Amino acid sequence: MTESTTIRWEQDRTGLVTLVLDDPDQSANTMNAAFRASLAAVTDRLEAEKDTIRGIILTSAKKTFFAGGDLRDLIRVTPETAQELFDGGLEIKRNLRRIETLGKPVVAALNGAALGGGYELALACHHRVALDAPGSKIGCPEVTLGLLPGGGGVVRTVRLLGIADALLKVLLQGTQYSPRKALENGLIDDVAATPEELLAKARAFVDANPESRQPWDRPGHRIPGGTPANPKFAANLPAFPATLRKQTGGAPYPAPRAILAAAVEGSQVDFETAQVIEARYFVELAAGQTSKNMIQAFFFDLQAVNSGANRPKGVEPRQVRRVAVLGAGMMGAGIAYSCARAGIDVVLKDVSPEAAAKGKDYSGKLCAKAVSRGRTTQEKADALLARITPTADPADLAGCDAVIEAVFEDTALKHKVFQEIEQVVAPDALLCSNTSTLPITALAEGVERQEDFIGLHFFSPVDKMPLVEIIKGERTGDEALARAFDLVRQIRKTPIVVNDSRGFFTSRVIGHFINEGVAMVGEGIEPASVEQAAAQCGYPAKVLSLMDELTLTLPQKIRRESRRAVEEAGGTWPGHPAEAVIDRMVDEFGRPGRSGGVGFYEYGEDGGRGALWPGLREHFTRAGSEIPFEDMQERMLFSEALDTVRLLEEGVLTSVADANIGSLFGIGFPGWTGGVLQYINGYDGGLPGFVARARELAERYGDRFTPPALLVAKAERGETFTDAR
Ligand code: NAI
Repeated sequence: MTESTTIRWEQDRTGLVTLVLDDPDQSANTMNAAFRASLAAVTDRLEAEKDTIRGIILTSAKKTFFAGGDLRDLIRVTPETAQELFDGGLEIKRNLRRIETLGKPVVAALNGAALGGGYELALACHHRVALDAPGSKIGCPEVTLGLLPGGGGVVRTVRLLGIADALLKVLLQGTQYSPRKALENGLIDDVAATPEELLAKARAFVDANPESRQPWDRPGHRIPGGTPANPKFAANLPAFPATLRKQTGGAPYPAPRAILAAAVEGSQVDFETAQVIEARYFVELAAGQTSKNMIQAFFFDLQAVNSGANRPKGVEPRQVRRVAVLGAGMMGAGIAYSCARAGIDVVLKDVSPEAAAKGKDYSGKLCAKAVSRGRTTQEKADALLARITPTADPADLAGCDAVIEAVFEDTALKHKVFQEIEQVVAPDALLCSNTSTLPITALAEGVERQEDFIGLHFFSPVDKMPLVEIIKGERTGDEALARAFDLVRQIRKTPIVVNDSRGFFTSRVIGHFINEGVAMVGEGIEPASVEQAAAQCGYPAKVLSLMDELTLTLPQKIRRESRRAVEEAGGTWPGHPAEAVIDRMVDEFGRPGRSGGVGFYEYGEDGGRGALWPGLREHFTRAGSEIPFEDMQERMLFSEALDTVRLLEEGVLTSVADANIGSLFGIGFPGWTGGVLQYINGYDGGLPGFVARARELAERYGDRFTPPALLVAKAERGETFTDAR
């Protein structure tokens, strides 16, 4: 019998066995090789000593109950090693099945988060009690990494909750529930207030159920809500593909489809066969490119970015206590809310007390909504609002240790507002601007302490968007960069760090996506197909509707300014075919976008978006100008990816993880790609395949698709885009 190294066996005199998950080599328990061997050993022993055992409690000595599959292993799976993964997974499933059918009561005492593999272990127990601790989450988030729960999670949730609830509540969205919500939705059976109560409740179940069995092992068990064999259920089946389409927008996400198939197919066969079906789909997803992209981005890159791989070392962490927000418009109001929510006192300044108060009202509305939805208490909401002081008087900014400016996008105005307050705030206050395009180095010229000046680019709506782009100006010091980083983490957002340049990373790259879509309209392509192409790529917003949201006059103004700057410096403006379309829309047809009531779309009285403007077809669309759908999609994706490589070449971007996370969290680059540079890594044929396709696009659609030297060199050297840290 092999020994168990990661599962500790504790047995009391009454024959109650407590299996304690406690991997000695890791901070969290995962489904690694050591766990697999330990589970086999423990299962053998349980069977061998069955007669002396009264019941089993499964719990953990770590902060989380069990973390799930080891992503370091999963990201390395290839079609060649897939069989190994299949066999290993099946072994774990069979051992869990042996424990589940031992004839003894088995209870999961969830002392902390039980997500993915953790919840799957709990599902193999007859009873699930969770400690109601803050931050303790329960569910199957595998879908968000392009995977499915391959440890029996599909098979058991379907048998526990029924196909529809298993899919909609657990599997397809990957919802992470608090213990109380997990209880309400039937994922667990009980909650406990303290660790002592948790174990007491687990023991009580064992005492009361000496011969416990899973519902699906009792005679006559039927899957709740029925299976496709039942005509009543079958009538509802067509709704699932529609749900899938809604979730993925037709974009290439293989996991939801595989989950649906594993659930439905597995519901029509016996438990063992269903486990094999689940294993097959799991391995197919794990060996595929999408799960690798998503694991790389949403796990490894995100961790690198949030843990401060880019934060200057050796600068003591600092917390902001009182922040001045200048400008209480859309962005300032949102920034004030996010800071107050994180416990920071906010002085919100605008030109008049009324304008400042209006900015604070925005927080009032968000708080009221959060209270009405049960997401916060009235008390907490009141405390949040009490932290925001609206004002028009610069003197009220005394003592602020950070400033975030969000007035109109105008260099002279920004200089003026900083001059007004620089001597009033704390003498070492961090000075930040939320400009979305203006170079930080030039803005810094408006303040005395240029080393303390930095860009802090938030995204709209601030309360929902997780990203902040930190922009280092030429004279920004390391201390300011570290403090800006700490401030972003303090308000629980994700910081990426870039060097100064017009439009930085995010605004510049999203501009290419929009320009490409607009250019296609100018070429005579049907505007509805352009929108469809963007949606089916997996972009959250269609391209022309996004242009309308941002307003067409904005890129026009920025372009004219940038062009002047480039030409004054003796350069040539590269130009883009989208420019002529935007100029005609604004100057000839008077359609500036949503804020002006008309744009590429029509808008109702209430501002709601209507249909595409029929004039587009009349003035732009030409028969015979259609191009392959794949070209339309790749023109958008490539335009962003190629410019990101140029940004690396220019030194504006210095980290691959920042590029990937920034593109996913800031500007809606499709999630299945794993981010804008991972998209290149994972492209069919790798970097050489990407270069060849870029050249093809350049030939057909223009020089802007010519692959930059850095990309070509990396492709030739057989490299990919990664951070060598
Ligand atoms: P907004 O027009 O909604 O708000 C600007 C506010 O600044 C107004 O309330 C105005 O009264 C106030 N203001 C003007 N002069 C002032 C002064 N001397 N002192 C104090 N307040 C003054 O503009 P929005 O959209 O909030 O943008 C603000 C900044 O944020 C701009 O630099 C913009 O480029 C940037 N930004 C905007 C994003 C967006 O999606 N709208 C995204 C990221 C950055």
